[in-house]
Formats: sequence, C-alpha cells, structure tokens
Amino acid sequence: MSTKAERFGPLPENTVLPTPQWVETPRRSKYACSPEVKEGDMEWYPPVMIGASSIGNDLTSNCTHYLKTAVNLLKKLESDAYVEYLLDYYKLGMKRYGDDWGYIDIVTAVLGLSKWLKPSNYLEIGVRRGRSVCSLASLCPDADIAMFDMWVENYAGMDNPGPDHVNKELDKFKHKGKREFINGNSHETLKSYFTENPNTYFDLITVDGDHSNLGAAEDIADVLPRLSIGGAVLFDDTGNPNVAGLGAVWRRMLEENPRFSTYTYSEVGYGVGFAIRKY
Ligand SMILES: C[S@@+](CC[C@H](N)C(=O)[O-])C[C@H]1O[C@@H](n2cnc3c(N)ncnc32)[C@H](O)[C@@H]1O
Repeated sequence: MSTKAERFGPLPENTVLPTPQWVETPRRSKYACSPEVKEGDMEWYPPVMIGASSIGNDLTSNCTHYLKTAVNLLKKLESDAYVEYLLDYYKLGMKRYGDDWGYIDIVTAVLGLSKWLKPSNYLEIGVRRGRSVCSLASLCPDADIAMFDMWVENYAGMDNPGPDHVNKELDKFKHKGKREFINGNSHETLKSYFTENPNTYFDLITVDGDHSNLGAAEDIADVLPRLSIGGAVLFDDTGNPNVAGLGAVWRRMLEENPRFSTYTYSEVGYGVGFAIRKY
C-alpha cells in the first residue's frame, strides 16, 4: 500500500508512467485545419494551424476580459465556500494588477479554449458541481458532453451532490447538446466507454478527477488517443502544492510529447496546463 506522500507528493524521476495506446485518428477536424487540399495537391504543412501558446497569450493578455466573464458565470452557479473565495481572489487580482496579472485557471482556460476551438463535443473527468462544464456550456451550448465522476462524498470538505445538481446548473446556460453522465471510478468507466464507443473522438477533454500521480497519469493515458487532431486536453493543478507531483506528470506526458503543443501556467493559484494535438 503506497503512502499519501507517494501518491500525492513530488513525482520521483524514475516513476514509470502509463503510455497512451495510440490508434489511427481521422486527420481532419472541423475547426483547426489548414485549407482542404485538392486531390493531387501537395499539403506542405501538418493540418493544425493554431498552437497552445496562441491561446495562452490571448488568455494572459486579456485576463481581465476572461475574469469578468468567469465572475458572471460563477455568480449564476449555486455558491459554495470555494466559489466565494474565488470571486474575492479574482476581484483583488483585477484591482491590483489589471491585465498585467496574466492569471489563468481552469475556468478561464475552458473559456479560452471554447472560444478558439468551438468544440462540438467535450469530455470531462471530475465534474463536481459543474463549474468547468458550465464554462464550456456558456460558450458552446450545442456541444455534446460526456461527464465522468464518482461523486466522492464531501469532496474537499464540500457537498458533491451529483448529476441532478449539474443538470440544473447546465440548464441555466441553456445547454442543448447531448448530456451523458458516466458515474463510477474513471479507471474503469473510461475504458468501457471507449470500448463501447470505438469511433468517438473529443474536441476538448478536461482531466480533473483522481489527483494521485498515477491515477491522473492513467486518466491522461486513457483519453489522449481519443482527442481529435486539433483538439485540446486540459489538466488542472499543475502548480498545486497539495498535489505536488501533478506538474511533473503533465510535463512528462504532454510537454515532452512531440504530438502536442503545450501551454502551462503554474505561477499562482493551482495552475493549469493545456495541449493541442498536432497529429
Ligand atoms: C477537483 S473536483 C472537479 C472540479 C471541477 N472540474 C470544477 O472545475 O469545479 C474532482 C472531482 O473528481 C471526482 N473524482 C475523484 N476521483 C475520481 C475517480 N477515480 N473517478 C471519477 N471521478 C473521480 C470527485 O468526485 C470530484 O467530483
């Protein structure tokens, strides 16, 4: 049995992380490709035309715009202690630093990725009370969404009521796409979901469920092969000292992977990373 420090502490360099089982993926997605190439024409470049730092630069330089959007969104959600804290944190940061703050978190990152990629479908591991999934729904109300959670009771000391609550929150944003709740441990449910849906690829995927080093790495390895070319994967807590190994999990699985362009923000708050799949 591993200790808490081994599961959630700094990741030793020699830790073996799971490897994604890549499958043949359709080359073209609707929103991030270079122009269709005619039969016989040479396509000089790979199809994806935008990298993660273009979106990261937008998020940091227009941080006030994204934070004001996040404030309006959070105020629509049923509040809890964490949301109250975040609203005060955003307010103080904007007052002190304006756009120079350059702050990014999971909410503003989902807003930026939704704006730029306009995902048709979204997979989320770790939904809790619906904050991140509502960020997506607020900008892409027609997107189909697949939500994976085991609804751990009293998560982080707060109520974690489950699908009925999340449905009510999504209704506030007039979400019209398909909704699927896949309840249970993601280490079982993801594998069976992908076996049952062999041709499904997602345009945006958020990994924010199991926060142990190996558990988060397994979730990443399970979802990466089902990310559309040109789609983005988002990972929370790259700079969270309470789960100090997750930054290294992200670095080793995404930043060092040539299939992806990546942007990682770990300066203040809990940190967040996102990566766009090139091939
Ligand atoms: C950090 S919260 C998600 C926060 C949410 N993304 C947001 O932005 O508000 C983590 C969630 O992951 C769920 N979770 C933890 N371990 C899990 C596992 N192995 N499988 C499925 N869900 C899990 C918990 O029940 C909790 O609701």
